[in-house]
Amino acid sequence: MNAPDMMAIPLPSDAAAEIVEDANLDDESVWMQTAENVWLRPLFFNVLQGMWVNAVRARGDGIVSRHRHPSPVTGYTLDGSWGYVEHDWIARPGTFIYEPAGETHTLYCKGDAGHMTTIFHNFGPLLYVDEHGNQTDYEDVFTRLEKCKDYYRSTPLGEEFVTRLIR
Ligand SMILES: [Fe+2]
Repeated sequence: MNAPDMMAIPLPSDAAAEIVEDANLDDESVWMQTAENVWLRPLFFNVLQGMWVNAVRARGDGIVSRHRHPSPVTGYTLDGSWGYVEHDWIARPGTFIYEPAGETHTLYCKGDAGHMTTIFHNFGPLLYVDEHGNQTDYEDVFTRLEKCKDYYRSTPLGEEFVTRLIR
């Protein structure tokens, strides 16, 4: 497809470069395993504002992650079905969610599909909690970035697969 024959409008000189990514989620090599039956595919790391975007994939019938969000999160479900122990709705393909700051949840894969793929935009860190809600660990854009760099450096994709997603 060709762009219309029109003048391109100049961007502000200090604007950062856009990210245009073929997320390629059908390609097994782009997925980084983070836990048993859980993988992520990084899409964007914002190191000035502490935010990141990734696709999360889980397989099997069970708990994927339990954590608190001190900042909001949005999510868009691509396939499968999943939910939170703390809420009674079920996300299915096409479901968009906005979770306000303070949201604390136990994400599980819903058994009827047995898998899920969702794009999450984390506006701040995750605080991992135990089954009583007590914090056990945390994740922010920097810990996530380091884990991803370490992993992809060990694959043919290389660290560049991750660093080009930093703004
Ligand atoms: Fe979450």
